[in-house]
Amino acid sequence: MAEPGKTPFQVDLRRYLREQDEDRNLTRLICEIAEASKYIVNSIRTGDLGVAGTSNLYGEQQLALDVLSDRILRKRLAHSGVVANIASEESPEILPISPDCEGKFSVAYDPLDGSSLVDVNLAVGTIVSIYEGCDLLQPGRNQVAALYILYGPRTTMVLSTGNGVHEFAMNKLMEYTLTRENITVESSGSIYSPGGQRNKYTSGVEKFVGQLEENGSKLRYSGGFVPDINQILMKGKGIFFYPHLQGAPDGKLRVLFELNPMAYLIEQAGGAASTGRERILDLTPEGIEARAPVFIGSKELVAKAEEYVAAHG
Ligand code: F6P
Ligand code: MN
Repeated sequence: MAEPGKTPFQVDLRRYLREQDEDRNLTRLICEIAEASKYIVNSIRTGDLGVAGTSNLYGEQQLALDVLSDRILRKRLAHSGVVANIASEESPEILPISPDCEGKFSVAYDPLDGSSLVDVNLAVGTIVSIYEGCDLLQPGRNQVAALYILYGPRTTMVLSTGNGVHEFAMNKLMEYTLTRENITVESSGSIYSPGGQRNKYTSGVEKFVGQLEENGSKLRYSGGFVPDINQILMKGKGIFFYPHLQGAPDGKLRVLFELNPMAYLIEQAGGAASTGRERILDLTPEGIEARAPVFIGSKELVAKAEEYVAAHG
């Protein structure tokens, strides 16, 4: 803590990673992503909010901002010299950058998650998952780092390289400086963020929600996965779910781009992430488009959801 009246000494992202003795190439990669995010945040603040006229692999309409954020990140990563393969939620295929896997990383990212919230000026984010070597279609437990950047009233980066979860905030100079170290999630809590249409819930999920409501849990759902997960991490409790639905047994969210990185962060903070039947980080995705249901947050709440799903589907 700084003395009253004095500006606290700011530890920037690069220095923090160096002090943690992180791999130099990984540090480079994370700092490139931080650089890219400065351009993305500027585009969100002042850019074209209209549609791009194209759609992605999932049939979702792309915004000009989705396409631009994707390009910004892809260029940075491709020129970083430390990346082997890239997969983006906005591109249909894995993009090979370097055939040489040794000492390099492969990256899966969602450049602008929650972009349907852009026109109503709610918070959106970038989500990134990082593996050593070339393989992107492996269980999420093998990630070596994961992060998200939240473009809210403030821009923050929440990062783990396997040694806890830390938050960095963008300052006036657009540098990320450490704001919270070793963020943890309590084993229970009374906040819930329920995704998906309720009239499509299965009986297990419906009963689980009924139980949360009976216990007086507070509903806090923004419609953006990044701010909703950030809420759990910053409040240190709660559960987010986007469950299996009638007619959509795999839910909505994507394993590579959304679930794995968030599951890694939440587990690093002491929480849990499950499909309702198994650990998210143990899934082996068959393709980059793989989806899964998710229950993520405080351990006891996730275990309770699993109980209801096991008993009632
Ligand atoms: O990209 C997926 C996403 O936009 C998430 O950010 C969010 O959690 C979810 O979809 C919201 O989906 P829905 O619009 O079905 O509530
Ligand atoms: Mn998304």
